[in-house]
Amino acid sequence: MDKIVIEGGVPLSGEITVSGAKNSAIKLMAVCLLTDEPLELTNMPRLRDTRFMGQLLACLGAKVEEAPGARLLLHAKTLTSTTASYDLVRKMRATFNVLGPILAREGKAKVSLPGGCAIGARPVDLHLDALKALGAQIELSDGYVIAEAKNGLKGAEITFPFISVGATEHTLLACVLAKGETVLNNAAREPEIIDLADCLNAMGAKISGAGRSEIRIQGVSRLKGISYSVVPDRIEAGTYALAAATAGGSVRLVNVRSEHLGSLWPLIAKAGATVTMDDNSVLIERGQGTPLRPVDMETQAYPGFPTDLQAQFMAMVCLADGVSIIRENIFENRFMHCPELVRMGANITVTGREAIVRGVERLTGAPVMATDLRASASLVAAGLAADGITEISRVYHLDRGFENIDVKLGNCGARIKRVSETG
Ligand code: EPZ
Repeated sequence: MDKIVIEGGVPLSGEITVSGAKNSAIKLMAVCLLTDEPLELTNMPRLRDTRFMGQLLACLGAKVEEAPGARLLLHAKTLTSTTASYDLVRKMRATFNVLGPILAREGKAKVSLPGGCAIGARPVDLHLDALKALGAQIELSDGYVIAEAKNGLKGAEITFPFISVGATEHTLLACVLAKGETVLNNAAREPEIIDLADCLNAMGAKISGAGRSEIRIQGVSRLKGISYSVVPDRIEAGTYALAAATAGGSVRLVNVRSEHLGSLWPLIAKAGATVTMDDNSVLIERGQGTPLRPVDMETQAYPGFPTDLQAQFMAMVCLADGVSIIRENIFENRFMHCPELVRMGANITVTGREAIVRGVERLTGAPVMATDLRASASLVAAGLAADGITEISRVYHLDRGFENIDVKLGNCGARIKRVSETG
């Protein structure tokens, strides 16, 4: 197993090209199940999570081929299986979202329930309620969801009791081929939802309102194959922006849709970094003489502050000259990075969903490990700013969602290397 070793205290300087969005790419990959024609995805990130999804699609009968130039070729001419096993779904819970498309195409599907994970219980009740509303018969047996829709799915009006990205996406994937109109109320508005709808529309779907709370979908009888470019990863961009603000220096992020991070830029500026945007890039600067200031933040569904940047934001305010209060509203257990940051010298008190971060003058390097992807990224940001050496174990978490993080930061002058834990 690899670990990341960082010699901190070096300001960052350079340019980072942001990859395609993981959380969009894995749902776009599932789209291939809805057509017997080939689907090409460009601007595809090469990640463990996209590979997990590729393995599952291959087990279902799709051809999955990585091609040069960040392209992925997918072709599900026929499905050879309608079952997604526990072994595949437990590795990455978003694979659960193949249930809707398999059901829409084949009239039946058997998909393992994903189970809990490090950041919370994460049930799928909203997904299942929506599929039932579309006419599916659902049974739970031996840890699996067994779904049937012998006469196909039918459009329905669905009101989500609270906002869920996954349930919104899953319902979209299920209802594009349903008979009649579906209306989704209280839908998630994340850029990844718009990306999914844009791809489906380019294939012949009739979806309007993606990016707003009410989405309307007129079912169509078939979708055609296309080539589609994955939206740039706002969370990867936000992570590097926060890392630059934390460690100091000057970093230009390229291939960024800055409007997707509207909740982040004012808070980074409030913390003391300068943010300059142009067409498709953002420059983050903080001189060594400019202190970090405390900033309160709470996570919300889009367009609010993303939960996927909460841990990285916390690393930054650990070094501020005052007290910041951070509230996590989306997941009930997403402060697992706090004890690790404390081991690096941070002063953090967690009570329920709130963390009080009392800024310290310096962090010091330490051996640390994290339980999830974004928590690991916060330890990288802290390690870049800390005095001395930080060793981050369980790098496979980072590999799930950050393409070449060591190379990208290394190109900005960070003293960062990946070493084999056995070697
Ligand atoms: C997506 O998860 C992302 N994952 C998460 O990113 C992200 O943190 C999250 O959206 C919020 O933005 C992917 O896109 C693969 P939700 P998702 O459904 O869809 C509860 C990362 O690090 N809920 O919006 O699972 C749920 O437990 C990951 O890249 C139910 O109770 O998130 C949570 O508390 C981590 N029942 C809240 O809703 C349901 O049926 C929001 O979850 C569904 C969700």
